[in-house]
Amino acid sequence: MAKRRPSSGRWLQEHHDDPYVLRARKEGYRSRAAYKLLEIDAELQQKYGKKAALLRSGMTVVDLGAAPGGWSQVAVKLIGKTGRVVAVDLLPIEPINGSVILQGDFLDDAVLQQVTNALEPKGRADLVLSDMAPNMSGFKSSDMARGELLAEAAYDFISQVLEPGGAAVIKLFQGSEFHEMVKQARTMFEKVKVVKPQASRARSAEHYLLGLGYIK
Ligand SMILES: C[S@@+](CC[C@H](N)C(=O)[O-])C[C@H]1O[C@@H](n2cnc3c(N)ncnc32)[C@H](O)[C@@H]1O
Repeated sequence: MAKRRPSSGRWLQEHHDDPYVLRARKEGYRSRAAYKLLEIDAELQQKYGKKAALLRSGMTVVDLGAAPGGWSQVAVKLIGKTGRVVAVDLLPIEPINGSVILQGDFLDDAVLQQVTNALEPKGRADLVLSDMAPNMSGFKSSDMARGELLAEAAYDFISQVLEPGGAAVIKLFQGSEFHEMVKQARTMFEKVKVVKPQASRARSAEHYLLGLGYIK
């Protein structure tokens, strides 16, 4: 997540007044980001019925770029006690009951191995989530390139661990590779949608790629 300078008054004011921030505080979510995932899941169910829910009881879910833990909180709640959430981030994450939390750089092979090990004995996931975002430097082209690198790492991971028929939600930035990344996803999933949840700030270049029905 981008680091904010304390002097960044506009951001602080906006954050303070943000309805999703207020709601997260009230409902016990660690981040406003939780509502992006809830919204994506709700829309899916609205369109295809309850059976199409992204998060279902007993699932194994991997949450890449999970700090401070909003998405993992949502996942743990919806998959119940028989499910498993494996969360990883560069930053520390306070424990979340029902999840395995790992700290490290997902681009590092040793960390990738730890995430894969946490999926044993099956070694597979039903859903891969990635909300990974680089620390924004303000230089658009390099920020976009770093964002693309993270999304590519998520795609590689999907090809290693996702169950056939599984699903993914991957954060994509609207940079030069955006259309290519969407095109690539269409070769990996039966259904692909690009979504911009209302909880995602309009000025942010982030979008989410929703992939359903992974084709091995
Ligand atoms: C927008 S935040 C995620 C918010 C989270 N989904 C939630 O609901 O609380 C993006 C996260 O990506 C993480 N991140 C960026 N690069 C990463 C990397 N190479 N490996 C692991 N995490 C990374 C950042 O540390 C940051 O916490």
